[in-house]
Amino acid sequence: MSKNGAGGALKAARGMQDWAGGPARDLASLERTLIGVMEQFSFEPVRLPHLESVALFKRGVGEATDIVEKEMFLIQPRQEDSREQLALRPEGTASCVRALLEQGLLFNQQQRVYYSGSMFRYERPQKGRYREFYQLGAEAFGYAGADLDAELLALAARCWQLLGISERVSLQLNNIGSAEDRRGFGAALVDFLMPRAEGLDADSRRRLDSNPLRILDSKSPDTQAILAGAPRLAEFVNEDSRSHFAQLTELLAALGIEYTVNERLVRGLDYYNNTVFEWVTEDLGAQGTICAGGRYDGLVAQLGGRPTPAAGFAMGLERVLLLCAAQQIYPGADPVDAYLCVVGDAHRGHALAQAQALREALPGLRLRCHLGGGKLDKQLKRANACGAAVALILGDAEVSQAVMQYKPLRGGEASQLALDGVIAALARDVLEGR
Ligand code: HAM
Repeated sequence: MSKNGAGGALKAARGMQDWAGGPARDLASLERTLIGVMEQFSFEPVRLPHLESVALFKRGVGEATDIVEKEMFLIQPRQEDSREQLALRPEGTASCVRALLEQGLLFNQQQRVYYSGSMFRYERPQKGRYREFYQLGAEAFGYAGADLDAELLALAARCWQLLGISERVSLQLNNIGSAEDRRGFGAALVDFLMPRAEGLDADSRRRLDSNPLRILDSKSPDTQAILAGAPRLAEFVNEDSRSHFAQLTELLAALGIEYTVNERLVRGLDYYNNTVFEWVTEDLGAQGTICAGGRYDGLVAQLGGRPTPAAGFAMGLERVLLLCAAQQIYPGADPVDAYLCVVGDAHRGHALAQAQALREALPGLRLRCHLGGGKLDKQLKRANACGAAVALILGDAEVSQAVMQYKPLRGGEASQLALDGVIAALARDVLEGR
């Protein structure tokens, strides 16, 4: 029977992932950490629609790109709005520019925004490549200098450092100049490759017509061998772009951020100019790019605004998590610090009230109150199973003496403490040093 056919077990659609339990905690915690860094760098949140008109991505990302040509999930229009073809967003940059333009936030202003959410691409699923995946992206507008490029890279580097994966990622950089430079280079590349077309892989042959620069990305050894003698993009890049890039490399040196210049790095989206970059790892096989971006000084005007310099990047959160897991790093902690056990149905109200008092006094505490009654040993099993460091016990004796039993679950003496004592002990044992 076909998947999800009548009567069969229902499964998530191909390339779509569920997030529950530990992985969901890891994702949520990763997002919080990364958003914390975004805020440290004074980026502000934006939330963008998941559906946009196909025209936006055609104009923004480029008609001849894989994303637009082959990978968009298109929405079958209903009769009444059939004039506008919609797609699930395959990326966030074009939507972000559209939204800020539409909200009047780009005119004569600087903006620094971040977004977090899922994107959709109709790709062949494999490890690290999904049809719905999470991106956390940062975009900044109104800054023409290379100091923005450097700050974006410093932001990403700070994220890797906080997560503990700095040693496992490296930065690849390239300067792809202006659209005009690339047209000149593209023409020279086609002139060079045409007489050698027979030796190219099929995809690259097709790209000779549509998008010759993407041939540089080809994984085919034969194509790469031919490319070894091809003209170099760097020879076609204009003076201003070169000087922008030279400034960027100076700033990176000042920041102590290491990089490799990869002349083959051209990126698969058309809006970039000058700086492009990818943070890559060798630990994830073929899907080793965990973050990518660059400058896109022409996009705002291309989507109807005034010319506005801009740059940004997006991280692929599944890939970041895979890389963390490869290092035995799991960002999501156990969900519970303390578990409040209550023995005796008459004390349930008192227990809920004590839990409220603890949450008020200790906003950072993750406290789970046992619900549904039952024996103490069963309740303590639950407390251990959810990873609590401390069990707090309320029974007849404790309630009559206005205390709680404070029982550390990973070693240490139990004691009877009044509410103030419990608050102090939790602050010391659980929250300190977090
Ligand atoms: P992108 O290179 O298409 O750029 O995607 C950015 C990151 O998203 C990739 O490096 C990867 O980590 C992750 N990613 C992409 N596709 C998938 C997939 N199918 N499964 C899992 N992860 C994936 C952009 O999207 C640009 N909007 C980035 C940008 C922002 N440039 C300037 N501002």
